[in-house]
Parts: sequence; C-alpha cells; structure tokens
Amino acid sequence: MVKHLAIIMDGNGRWAQQRGLSRSEGHRAGAENIGKITEAAIKYGIEYLTLYAFSTENWKRPAAEVDFLMHLIPVFCKTRLKPMLQNGVRLRTIGRTDDLPFFARKALLKAIDDTKNNTKLTLNLALSYGGRAEIVDAVNRLLADPERPQKIDEAAFGRYLYAPDIPDPDLMIRTSGEMRLSNFLLWELSYSELYVSPVHWPAFDEAELKKALDSFGSRDRRFGDVTAKK
Ligand code: FPP
Repeated sequence: MVKHLAIIMDGNGRWAQQRGLSRSEGHRAGAENIGKITEAAIKYGIEYLTLYAFSTENWKRPAAEVDFLMHLIPVFCKTRLKPMLQNGVRLRTIGRTDDLPFFARKALLKAIDDTKNNTKLTLNLALSYGGRAEIVDAVNRLLADPERPQKIDEAAFGRYLYAPDIPDPDLMIRTSGEMRLSNFLLWELSYSELYVSPVHWPAFDEAELKKALDSFGSRDRRFGDVTAKK
C-alpha cells in the first residue's frame, strides 16, 4: 500500500519538443496533469502526494522560463481550488518558498489556507526545493532553537525538516527516463522504492501510475532486515 507517493515530474520540455510546441506549452500541460494524477492518486488510496515542481537549481534556467513557471503557480492555485475543495485535497508546500515572487507566494498562501481542513489527500508541492538545502535549513533551525535536545538522533533531527508530520515516501516515481535523484527528498527517500517511467510527465496518466503502483506491490521491502515488511 502506498501511503505517500513522491514524483519527479520530468520531461515537460521533451514532450513539447516532440510535438513542435514551446517549452512553455510543455510546462502548461505538465501543470494540468497534476490535477489528473492527484485525482487518480485519491482513487488508489494515496494520502500524501509530493511533487517536485521547482528545484533550487531551476533558478538557473533562462529568466523567461523561470518567469513562466512562476506565473503558472497562481493559475494552478486558481483553477485547482474548486476541484481540491470538492475532492478533499489539502495543499501544502516544502522548500525555500520565501524565494518565490510575491504573487506566487500570495496565491499559494490563499490556496493553502482555503484547503487546510481537507483530509483526503495532502498535495505537497516542492517549490524552490533542494534536498541539501532542506538538510542545511534543518541544521540552522536546530542551532537557533533554544529548546533543542542535548543529543540529536534521527527522529529528533527529522523534526526540523520542512514537513516533519508527513511520513517518508513509500514510492518515488521519476518520469521521462532519467535515473537520478536530482536533489529531491534526500533524507526522506532513504528507504523508498524507486520507479522510473520512460513516459514524459504531461503524458504520464492514470494507467502509467497504475503500472508503477503494481510494480511497488510486487516488491519486498526489508528496510535492511532479512524478512519483508509490508
Ligand atoms: C521538468 O521538465 C519539469 C520542471 C522543471 C518543472 C515541473 C513543473 C510543472 C509540472 C508545472 C508547474 C507546476 C506548478 C505547480 C504550477 P523539464 O523542463 O526539465 O523537461 P526536459 O527535461 O524534457 O527539458
């Protein structure tokens, strides 16, 4: 059973290129696909869906592409609000969201507030997110905490991460074929199962999600032990 699914939504650019469209069209289609996969995830009983929407490294992209992605955020918040309310989706974010432009932060804060009482699925958008940045931010929060424990173990450290109440992902899917983590959830993915799909994110549909979940269902998760734990 997958309680928490994490996805690296890769391949918007290649999807667009194959169709003679601009990269922006690829990102627009990618953003639209978030709604479809969120609804499919609810159908499969997934409770937490964490999506890598913008990394700390993505700031290095051409200014026009960064600008387009930033403007997609309020569009997404606005068009998805009604379906999120209808489907019981609670929106959250992880990452250095203070780095986002004001209009994007404002739209996110409103959608987060409007959906805060929903309980069916938590849609957690990683924005200006980096796994190393998250660990460094956690260390700094720990150092600044006058009530920090004298000795730190993994559980104590984990409480300083961006979303300490969300369980680690059971499964991480990367679309578009690349076999790397790209600085995504470095701490949280320690024991997650990995699944790479050749399909580009805008074309990754419910049937592809089902394939990934079926693959997960056939694996033995031993967490370093000798016997499988489900
Ligand atoms: C990777 O495609 C995708 C991204 C860098 C961003 C993901 C963003 C979205 C799915 C849409 C925006 C989301 C929100 C919440 C508004 P790529 O450009 O790296 O594709 P490529 O590797 O084929 O060039």
